[in-house]
Amino acid sequence: MPVLTSSVDSYLKKLPSNRHPVLRRMEILARRLTFPIVGPQVGSLLAILVRLTHPKTIIELGSGFGYSALWMALAAKSTKVIGSELNPYNLARAKRFFSQAGCQRRVDLKAVDALQLLDRQPDRSVSFIFNDVDKTQYPMVLKLASKKLKIGGLLVTDNVLWSGKVARPSKDPDTRAIRAYNRGITNSPDWLTSIVPVRDGVSISLRIR
Ligand SMILES: C[S@@+](CC[C@H](N)C(=O)[O-])C[C@H]1O[C@@H](n2cnc3c(N)ncnc32)[C@H](O)[C@@H]1O
Repeated sequence: MPVLTSSVDSYLKKLPSNRHPVLRRMEILARRLTFPIVGPQVGSLLAILVRLTHPKTIIELGSGFGYSALWMALAAKSTKVIGSELNPYNLARAKRFFSQAGCQRRVDLKAVDALQLLDRQPDRSVSFIFNDVDKTQYPMVLKLASKKLKIGGLLVTDNVLWSGKVARPSKDPDTRAIRAYNRGITNSPDWLTSIVPVRDGVSISLRIR
């Protein structure tokens, strides 16, 4: 998963951190279940972006058991995180973790398809999207986000380097979809994008027109 060398990756993992104890509990569960959470490097990047931009709305596409949503909820002072997750076990776990962290009122996790949740928002109304859905859906996320995000809003997407597999053309549907997403967003005059090679690659795209 990490695109960094394993020694740099383990160095980052060993650095001290002041993150919330519930986040640490969620990391232990993710390891036990081998469930793909964003981890502390991407989580803290999300928290910084939320704190810097004070978004009026935060939409999360693909919430799992709520790890990345909790990072954003802890960072957002008055904004609710609206998440989406189809798996009922993940939803139940997420709700338990949010209440353990005292954040149950700051996250509204919906049992809906993430693309439908985004499609339901008024055009040009959303100020922050974190995208971590099934990778084959990334091109559709870009299409919808282009309609729904306001100018000055951020679209942050996880796994855009896909263990380095994006570097070569591929027949694998996930890799193809991520390559199409990366090409689409970097080629468009509507977006200003930086791909940050942290963990599995995160793109940060600012809607500029
Ligand atoms: C990589 S995990 C999310 C991890 C989470 N962002 C975190 O770091 O804590 C992806 C999750 O998205 C959910 N998912 C994938 N496609 C979805 C969709 N179209 N609508 C809702 N949930 C979706 C899956 O069930 C899975 O739990």
